[in-house]
Amino acid sequence: MKKQYSISSFSVFILFLHCSNTFAQSPAAAPAQAPAAVVAQPPAATPTQAAAPNGITNVTRILEKAGHFTIFIRLLRSTQEENHLFSALNDSSSGLTIFAPTDSAFSELKSGTLNTLSDGDKSELVKFHVVPTFLSTSQFQTVSNPLGTWAGTGSRLPLNVTSYPNSVNITTGITNTSLSGTVYTDNQLAIYKIEKVLLPKDVFGSKAPAPAPAAPAREKPTKAVPEATVESPVSPVDISSALMFTHNNVVGSVGMVAAAMFAL
Ligand SMILES: *[C@@H]1O[C@H](CO)[C@@H](O)[C@H](O)[C@H]1NC(C)=O
Ligand SMILES: *[C@@H]1O[C@H](CO)[C@@H](O)[C@H](O)[C@H]1NC(C)=O
Ligand SMILES: *[C@@H]1O[C@H](CO)[C@@H](O)[C@H](O)[C@H]1NC(C)=O
Ligand SMILES: *[C@@H]1O[C@H](CO)[C@@H](O)[C@H](O)[C@H]1NC(C)=O
Ligand SMILES: *[C@@H]1O[C@H](CO)[C@@H](O)[C@H](O)[C@H]1NC(C)=O
Repeated sequence: MKKQYSISSFSVFILFLHCSNTFAQSPAAAPAQAPAAVVAQPPAATPTQAAAPNGITNVTRILEKAGHFTIFIRLLRSTQEENHLFSALNDSSSGLTIFAPTDSAFSELKSGTLNTLSDGDKSELVKFHVVPTFLSTSQFQTVSNPLGTWAGTGSRLPLNVTSYPNSVNITTGITNTSLSGTVYTDNQLAIYKIEKVLLPKDVFGSKAPAPAPAAPAREKPTKAVPEATVESPVSPVDISSALMFTHNNVVGSVGMVAAAMFAL
């Protein structure tokens, strides 16, 4: 009981930070707050509010209520993964875990990154954020890496989670980040907030971010390829440019976060 009390006080504290906008203005500068936020119960959505009329949990609605996930929601819609999630939550007995990147996470991508992706790559990017099992924060301590995602498994799609006493860190080989909060959890679905978009090696690894024709070979990683075309190690130059800050978008998303807060 004592522990629950301190957790809920902390979530009130976090809410206060949100309202005063401090948190929104310095998403990257708050690693010390992240661990406790991960276990804090979500103030924005409860299982009752999240259910559609037919009783199935509606991920889009949860993200809308939480605010500052507008780009992720747009991607879920445009890729039809919204419907996929809905039917999976109706069918799945093992549950789902979703890593939801905030709008400011998307604003850190090099501008135009999303626009240059093919529809297939957009789908893959979204699916890479969905793990087909329910994982509570304590289960991150025992889960075995790499996690499989809806995008698949294999050496081009690693998603590793490491639990430390004060944080849960994630790496894709390209993106390093950590969970920055729990948006929603019941016993079937967990949605965690992350401050970076998880870039799968498969899409962002060895390929230039410029528009590229669909490469069928890329979708069959097991297929033998000539030695000369074997992927080279990820270029650090690509990484830094992919993570370049876009200040205008950050200001915009901070504004949206503030607006969302007042809307609550
Ligand atoms: C889920 O919620 C969103 C946003 O409120 C709504 O647009 C959508 O129609 C809902 N989906 C279902 C299947 O109820
Ligand atoms: C949920 O699953 C049940 C059983 O498979 C099915 O009959 C029902 O139509 C599904 N509901 C929706 C909204 O897809
Ligand atoms: C993920 O974990 C597996 C198993 O420990 C390891 O082999 C792999 O190198 C890791 N990948 C990354 C990107 O950390
Ligand atoms: C991610 O973290 C690993 C291990 O801490 C480090 O070796 C690697 O350079 C980091 N990658 C990026 C892109 O920051
Ligand atoms: C975990 O991630 C955070 C930032 O996301 C970073 O500051 C910290 O160094 C990482 N911890 C380890 C052990 O890699």
